[in-house]
Amino acid sequence: MTFVVTDSCINCKYGECVEVCPQDAFHEGINFVVINPNTCSNCGLCEMVCPVDAIFPIYNLPEDLSIFIKINDEQSKIWPKPKSVSPLESADYWAKINKKIGHLKY
Ligand code: F3S
Repeated sequence: MTFVVTDSCINCKYGECVEVCPQDAFHEGINFVVINPNTCSNCGLCEMVCPVDAIFPIYNLPEDLSIFIKINDEQSKIWPKPKSVSPLESADYWAKINKKIGHLKY
């Protein structure tokens, strides 16, 4: 079992999840973060602190967000681990937008 970062994080990247993760399981892209499913210890802290509810346990992931299982798995093998993450400049604007996957930068 693991947790999965999904659509709501795109172009926001508020970063609270990275701060609380005891396993350093997060990896950072340009406008999104992902969780390494092999490092995640399933504590659930990240889900609790994300201000835009971007993180789900895999067993409770809405069907229309299932593509993010693959994205978290694949990008966590490529993207670096962040030391800390600051919100993107227009995070509060993008927090109100749904279905942002077309804006995800690799
Ligand atoms: Fe993204 Fe939420 Fe973390 S917006 S960076 S998943 S706190």
